[in-house]
Amino acid sequence: MVMDGIFKNMWDYKFVPVEIISRDSGVDARKVEDILRYLSDEDMVEVKKTEYLGGAFTFFGLSLYSLHRLVRKDYVTMIGERMGEGKESVIYNCISRWGEAILKFHKVGHVSFKRVREKRDYGSLHHTVLMVRSARNEFKALKKLYGRVSVPKPYGWEGNAVLMELIDARELYKVRIENPRDVLNYIVEEIEEMWRIGVVHGDLSQFNILVNPDGIWFIDFPQALDLDEVDVEIAKDVLKRDLSNILKYFKKTYNIDVNLEDVLKN
Ligand SMILES: Nc1ncnc2c1ncn2[C@@H]1O[C@H](COP(=O)(O)OP(=O)(O)O)[C@@H](O)[C@H]1O
Ligand SMILES: [Mg+2]
Repeated sequence: MVMDGIFKNMWDYKFVPVEIISRDSGVDARKVEDILRYLSDEDMVEVKKTEYLGGAFTFFGLSLYSLHRLVRKDYVTMIGERMGEGKESVIYNCISRWGEAILKFHKVGHVSFKRVREKRDYGSLHHTVLMVRSARNEFKALKKLYGRVSVPKPYGWEGNAVLMELIDARELYKVRIENPRDVLNYIVEEIEEMWRIGVVHGDLSQFNILVNPDGIWFIDFPQALDLDEVDVEIAKDVLKRDLSNILKYFKKTYNIDVNLEDVLKN
């Protein structure tokens, strides 16, 4: 399949050459060109001719292909309504092997703080590669945290798509909670637990915490830092930013004054 050929080689070529796709898919080069043009008409692939003719996914194409991989693995059996579209992702309801779930298609990439430099710099990577990396990073963080910290259960990851448990709750900023002090304490404890596990959220705010009368969940982990991979000082700075976002929100909304330095002491 032509799209498998693009997917397999996207880390190495910004636009995967027809020749390479042909080699990997066993499809005749001529036919690959025709298919690429067809996929390009359908907005799934971007075709570019430089020294050679090559193809790269669009966000739409990569998302459909990722969904296809999840279906092929029998992880997803039915896709439902679009639940939302943010700046950084598109979210769908779906039916999975585990029952009702959500599918998050990542739309952007984030700068990584990895100590080990990746073999290619950003200039030579297609932006869809960064979407895959965001999805992988989110899945990895959820895997590490699930069971110890309150996060949706991660079921699967393919390409730019993460399949996870559906949480029936609303974003913290949309609800007026009754016991803000307890909630804040709980959030801080959970952030501490994440740190002990070796994860810093990296984009924590009232928009990425879900609440309902039964509990609190942390979501949206594409920017999570793994303490095994990043410098501790960088991780500490990011942790402070996360904490300070939360403290500011509770100060502004519930007039609860907690000092960042006091929290950091523990
Ligand atoms: N596991 C989930 N269960 C229920 N709703 C979710 C879940 N994950 C995300 N959402 C909803 O989708 C929105 C966007 O998801 P999020 O992971 O925060 O991505 P973004 O990077 O686009 O903000 C969330 O604010 C929330 O309303
Ligand atoms: Mg979010």
